[in-house]
Amino acid sequence: MLDITKDDYIRVTNLDKRYGHADEALVLEGINLDVRKGEFVSILGPSGCGKSTLLKCIAGLEDISGGHVDTFGRPVAGPPEGLGMVFQRDMLLDWRTILDNVLFTVELKGKVSSEMRARAKAQLARFGLGGYEDKRPWELSGGMRQRASICRALLTDPDILLMDEPFGALDAMTRDDLNVEVARIWQETKKTVIFITHSISEAVFLSDRVVILDRHPGRIVEILDIDLPRPRELPLRETPEFGRYSSHIRQVFTKLGVFKDA
Ligand SMILES: Nc1ncnc2c1ncn2[C@@H]1O[C@H](COP(=O)(O)OP(=O)(O)OP(=O)(O)O)[C@@H](O)[C@H]1O
Ligand SMILES: [Mg+2]
Repeated sequence: MLDITKDDYIRVTNLDKRYGHADEALVLEGINLDVRKGEFVSILGPSGCGKSTLLKCIAGLEDISGGHVDTFGRPVAGPPEGLGMVFQRDMLLDWRTILDNVLFTVELKGKVSSEMRARAKAQLARFGLGGYEDKRPWELSGGMRQRASICRALLTDPDILLMDEPFGALDAMTRDDLNVEVARIWQETKKTVIFITHSISEAVFLSDRVVILDRHPGRIVEILDIDLPRPRELPLRETPEFGRYSSHIRQVFTKLGVFKDA
């Protein structure tokens, strides 16, 4: 059992990050963010503000230049156990079947048990991909590929799920569909999720808190609590409360000069 308090599941303290030499400009400056167990936190900010960099620092995929990043109460040094990631590009391997793609990360760690294989199949079925186990990624739509990526990330039942704009490349209807799916998974599993997006409505719809970043250097300008009822379904987006959160975030970005015309 992990001996941690509810509040230090992910703890980012005064994080600075620059790529390259010490005289390079900071990409992220003074980031402070605690994510509690079971919380859904979205990170919203303009292109190039350092969202992916922040996620990679939390995942232990990038060195940090200052401050601390802790997961499960311990300093991050390389990708920790118990962490799953979904990337913007689905990272499926074209020469492997969907089932073997879902099993890929498990396979890297050793032999795949028949139990794990059964679990992968069940997971695919649950995500509407039953019958597609033996297809190749190029035979699936973009939405189906991202569903398979989520299956892969969830296969080992990680405590933390980091998602970097997983639906950025999808059409609006598929995206809505997957938003509902993610809200449902979260409701069922209560994973701790950090979700990066460019979409204000996606962030409000999914999150307990929305972290707003500005750029040059990337820094947190506001953390907004989203006090909307759960479970959440699409009609929530038509409510005045939902509209108030969205318009508040739009105003913040307008003040920051991210939107010129809002
Ligand atoms: N490996 C790298 N080496 C050098 N600079 C990098 C590297 N990765 C990112 N950067 C720079 O760091 C800054 C932040 O990049 P990052 O990818 O974190 O932004 P982002 O907010 O995720 O952007 P987007 O919304 O477009 O995905 C950018 O200026 C980028 O050029
Ligand atoms: Mg990015």
